[in-house]
Amino acid sequence: MNSLLIPGGSAPAPTGETTGQSLDEPMKTNGEPSTVLTLSQVGKSFGTLRVLKGIDLQVQRSEVVCLIGPSGSGKSTLLRSMAFLEEYDEGEIRIEGQLLGWQDTDKGRRRAPQSQINQVRRNVGMVFQQFNLWPHMTALGNVCEALRRVRKLSADDAKKRGMAMLDKVGLAHKAEAYPAQLSGGQQQRVAIARALAMEPHIMLFDEPTSALDPELVGEVLQVMKTLAKEGMTMVVVTHEMGFAAQVADSVIFLDQGEIVARGTPQQIFHNAEQPRLQQFLQNYLDRNAFWQDAKA
Ligand SMILES: Nc1ncnc2c1ncn2[C@@H]1O[C@H](COP(=O)(O)OP(=O)(O)OP(=O)(O)O)[C@@H](O)[C@H]1O
Ligand SMILES: [Mg+2]
Repeated sequence: MNSLLIPGGSAPAPTGETTGQSLDEPMKTNGEPSTVLTLSQVGKSFGTLRVLKGIDLQVQRSEVVCLIGPSGSGKSTLLRSMAFLEEYDEGEIRIEGQLLGWQDTDKGRRRAPQSQINQVRRNVGMVFQQFNLWPHMTALGNVCEALRRVRKLSADDAKKRGMAMLDKVGLAHKAEAYPAQLSGGQQQRVAIARALAMEPHIMLFDEPTSALDPELVGEVLQVMKTLAKEGMTMVVVTHEMGFAAQVADSVIFLDQGEIVARGTPQQIFHNAEQPRLQQFLQNYLDRNAFWQDAKA
């Protein structure tokens, strides 16, 4: 059903109602757990290739975590595991206290029923590098689709919420445009509006700007900055070091499936101690050096 809702992808297709959280989660005064996402010793292999190893991570409400690291280090696999689009096979991932994807039985761990998986991740929104919009639907139609089919909103209510979300990403005036009539940056903003319409508690972004022409990157980052300022909890895989430096509360450096370094942007970008991180940042600077030369 997920793939019906998001062409080419499988963003969470939530069903059912949110239920309680585990008792040991610290609570905020409004009754919501302050820890939105918890990963404990998460591992994942593709055949004999172990791509995630012992990942421990907590994301607090309103926190922005940026994941950086070389190509193939496991960033996408880790992010996709957080929505169970990849089946992690070691450890635990909990969303607001609820175990994602698996259930423990007398006979060991089993994949949870799909309805349960959908219910646990109903508050997780995901934005991919490829926008995955339906080409035959308008921008508004794309944003409203899951509201109608999953959240069962009336056509009027879906349209109202859809328009509000398009407005939020600065695209109310493009509501009736089809994806082919929109720039890449506009399509990505529609994809963000579509995810936001589901009122997620956490948004996961996988290199949302890397398929864009350079001049379109800024408009998408701006929307993400606004979301961060408004208190959205976010995990962002990005090669945009400037964005990570400006917006992240914490930056995680992944290499060969392991978290090699984590810290504030200041610690990661200005006081990097780990040789692998230093090397990664140096490569990044070298790649971008011609800008400095050109500017000089
Ligand atoms: N479906 C799959 N089957 C087999 N191997 C896979 C699969 N998906 C990813 N991998 C491998 O897992 C490792 C991590 O891949 P992943 O896509 O998570 O890296 P990444 O850090 O997101 O890289 P990039 O920056 O290039 O997007 C790589 O070695 C990749 O080849
Ligand atoms: Mg990737």
